[in-house]
Amino acid sequence: MIWSAASALARLLPGEAAHRLAVKTLDYGIAPKSDNAHYGRLLARTVAGLDFANPLGLAAGFDKNAEAIKGALGLGFGFTEVGTITPKPQPGNPKPRVFRLPQDHAVINRYGFNNDGMEHAGRRLAAYRQNPVQGIVGVNIGANKDSADRVADYYTTAAHLSPYADYMTVNVSSPNTPGLRGLQEPQFLKEVINAALAGMADAGSIVPLMLKIAPDLDDTGLIAALNTALEEGCSGMIIANTTITRPPNLTHPSKGEAGGLSGAPVFSLSNQMLHRAATYLEAEGQFKNLPIIAVGGVSSAETAWVKLRLGASLVQCYTSLALEGPLLPQRIIDGLAQKMKQEGLTSIDDLPHPVADAQDVVKSLDQG
Ligand SMILES: Cc1cc2nc3c(=O)[nH]c(=O)nc-3n(C[C@H](O)[C@H](O)[C@H](O)COP(=O)(O)O)c2cc1C
Repeated sequence: MIWSAASALARLLPGEAAHRLAVKTLDYGIAPKSDNAHYGRLLARTVAGLDFANPLGLAAGFDKNAEAIKGALGLGFGFTEVGTITPKPQPGNPKPRVFRLPQDHAVINRYGFNNDGMEHAGRRLAAYRQNPVQGIVGVNIGANKDSADRVADYYTTAAHLSPYADYMTVNVSSPNTPGLRGLQEPQFLKEVINAALAGMADAGSIVPLMLKIAPDLDDTGLIAALNTALEEGCSGMIIANTTITRPPNLTHPSKGEAGGLSGAPVFSLSNQMLHRAATYLEAEGQFKNLPIIAVGGVSSAETAWVKLRLGASLVQCYTSLALEGPLLPQRIIDGLAQKMKQEGLTSIDDLPHPVADAQDVVKSLDQG
């Protein structure tokens, strides 16, 4: 009750102020606490060699400065991904730069990697590692807007932050740093992945490396990204970031704002990409070698379930948490556990991947 009221109050604040308040309250531990221990092995899953207590994670962009790790994991998430973190601090784009579109269950943001830089994040992560809680912590890295050598930024951040990370993510898919998405081209992607791997190796702390891509890549771009990730030694894909497209059915007056769109309107788009990636990897005999973390429009156990059935090993959410408040993760986890029991499954690894009727799964949900 108190948390529903708090969420309702936060909705009265402008998007960025509500975001700051949410990070601070989690940092101070003012949040509902969940305990998923009673689910035991039901929702547990080993992905890229890491043991996740459940498959739901908090997506990058919420905890940009690694300030709220314990608070986020305390909400019930099995993992949290901090960042995007760049080598130097940077202010990001002029405000306002976050717009909530409640009637469309969506957000548009053009933050532009505002963050305190890797030194600050490193200190926060080191402090967390002194006294950690259960849960996996990913660290998402990017390049400074004014960098003279963007590829080198991935080396620098990987070298500095990998000692504190369970996994790292190279983010080459934010639409809010001009030119960044050009790094998704295979020749640059290869350089970025190798720079991050070299940074980790030089720091003596090699952890699984994930590649996060945009939902706006065409089929050729997607397949090229998958092949490059496989060839260069990535441990997983994150599909997908926000979209620069605008579906025609958006209704909120802010729909024309520039930036990346997230939430319900990217559910279908990211599912199509997830399904294509999962079936391609399956056909190539690589499904187990490049697990997929699926993100985009997860707002319920049903939407998370669709992504798991389409071939995701794990799922993440962000926008639904921003719009619905801190009780949401536990609702999703409880719902997933219930679904597992309904289907007679005792382990999430027993889900068939990828399902044959994937398009039907998506369609039935879109219509509902
Ligand atoms: C306000 C906001 C800021 C974001 N910042 C980042 C970021 O810094 N790095 C990143 O990789 N993704 C970022 N994202 C993208 C999310 O991690 C996620 O990929 C996307 O929002 C789709 O998931 P959702 O529909 O559950 O929000 C951001 C999303 C939002 C809404």
